[in-house]
Amino acid sequence: MCSTDFLRAKIERRKLSMVTCYDYTFARLLSKSAIDGILVGDSAAMVMHGHSSTLSMTVELARLHTEAVVRGAAGKFVVADMPFLSFRKGLAAALECAQVLMRAGAHAVKLEGVDGHEDVIQRMAQSGIPVMGHLGLQPQSVHAYGGFRVQGRSDDSAREILRQATVLEELGAFAVVLECVPAILAQQITQALQIPTIGIGAGGGCDGQILVLQDLLGMNMDFHPKFARSFVDGAGSVLDALAHFDEAVKAGAFPAPEESYS
Ligand code: KIV
Repeated sequence: MCSTDFLRAKIERRKLSMVTCYDYTFARLLSKSAIDGILVGDSAAMVMHGHSSTLSMTVELARLHTEAVVRGAAGKFVVADMPFLSFRKGLAAALECAQVLMRAGAHAVKLEGVDGHEDVIQRMAQSGIPVMGHLGLQPQSVHAYGGFRVQGRSDDSAREILRQATVLEELGAFAVVLECVPAILAQQITQALQIPTIGIGAGGGCDGQILVLQDLLGMNMDFHPKFARSFVDGAGSVLDALAHFDEAVKAGAFPAPEESYS
């Protein structure tokens, strides 16, 4: 897969699957799957580091997570998220960040919003850096919203998101993530654009779907957004395994002779 394959998939009406990943071990597993793309999301700040928002992500952390994922995810298309404000401090600083992430092995970068950093998006696209947009709920703007809220419910706000999506396409983005918008709006945007839309909490009308890996694996015990289906009870399985290990150790049943060296 590469960014042009995303465009081809839309033309051929093939749905695209993406998940987030932040580490080598899961990246190895993903490399054995049919998943089309991996996002080293700034959600790593929350999922891997326990922060309450993505604002704590830094370029250095993004580089470290991207390198780890790329080492494990041989043959997979890897998109790295540009952290909070990294693309709002001028063109040179934004390109510096993109350079760090691409040299870490990413095949594309993703950044939230469009207004005020059109030049960044255009310059990256013109420089051979595939750019994925991110509209609707932009987690880096959580404090401007007053919480993680569905966006695009009013006519004005829906029109605005559609406008931004069109601008992203004109600037050269190869795809756009639509997060937490009404399904009908995501469908309209999907129909209006040539580039694929990748939904998360945006209904089934998008060209593809993305989920946070730990959410789809059912690892997150505290947070169950409506859109995040758990495809396995990961937390239950892990807790079960830990209980069995604990019991076996305390009963003197682990390690067995065949698990010991002579
Ligand atoms: O960082 C992330 O996990 C994301 C997804 C929600 C698309 O941006």
